[in-house]
Amino acid sequence: MNLSGKIVLITGGSGLLGRAILRDLLKRDAIPVNLDITKDDVGVKYIHCDVMEEKSISNAIQSVIDEYGVIDGLVNNAYPRTADWGEDFESIKPESWRKNVDWQLNSCFICCQQVIQHMLKQECGSIVNIASIYGIVGNDFSIYKGTSIIPPAAYSAIKGGVINFTRYLASKYGKDGIRANCVSPGGIFNHQDKIFVENYNSKVPLSRMGSPEDISPSVSFLLSDESGYITGHNLVVDGGWTAI
Ligand SMILES: NC(=O)c1ccc[n+]([C@@H]2O[C@H](COP(=O)([O-])OP(=O)(O)OC[C@H]3O[C@@H](n4cnc5c(N)ncnc54)[C@H](O)[C@@H]3O)[C@@H](O)[C@H]2O)c1
Repeated sequence: MNLSGKIVLITGGSGLLGRAILRDLLKRDAIPVNLDITKDDVGVKYIHCDVMEEKSISNAIQSVIDEYGVIDGLVNNAYPRTADWGEDFESIKPESWRKNVDWQLNSCFICCQQVIQHMLKQECGSIVNIASIYGIVGNDFSIYKGTSIIPPAAYSAIKGGVINFTRYLASKYGKDGIRANCVSPGGIFNHQDKIFVENYNSKVPLSRMGSPEDISPSVSFLLSDESGYITGHNLVVDGGWTAI
């Protein structure tokens, strides 16, 4: 994959999936810049950025332009959520729902809008929005039986929105050399409740949850020149979850 020297912004690069994306980009000689509220331990260029704040996003993007003069790629990966994320559907407070949609979906719009202004001048760029299998299919509630995990309803609305918003971007900006795609991971193993993991593993065709390293190469691919004729795609990396 040709990513050598490419300046790639990633939001939420300090998290579970974000760190794997940073490492994969480094391995391929890209120059990743992590925009997060907490610093990563990967050792890449870090800029404090709170995606819940429009000004914080524009400051971070401007400082990247000041330093590098170009933005080749953007990965919208940050995952801000309210303290009551995962509340049972009937108890969700509308205010909480609004905040999560604002922090997760609207922040993706703002990052895309601001970065696209620079990509338009460059006449090239690649955007990868991290969505989820739950933006494509409904939850199988049987896998949560015997656990305290409640899948958040807003997540389905947000990730479904991210996927079709990405198609809008692909359609509008293809003529300008800007590509927009999604990567939709399945469940990533992170020491969840044992019963949940067993239930998940027994359902998913490849019989295991994903690892961050299962997902990250797909992000790199969609940022690279090798995916130059791919736009508006949702690359599902889920061990077969959505195939059945
Ligand atoms: N973990 C999974 O099983 C899974 C599955 C499918 C999709 N995803 C998606 O992958 C992405 C990353 O998820 P993750 O599991 O790595 O989450 P995570 O919680 O491990 O990491 C999220 C990162 O976002 C950062 N963040 C939080 N609020 C922020 C803010 N206001 N501004 C900037 N950064 C902020 C955090 O500091 C953290 O580094 C998310 O979009 C998530 O929906 C995850």
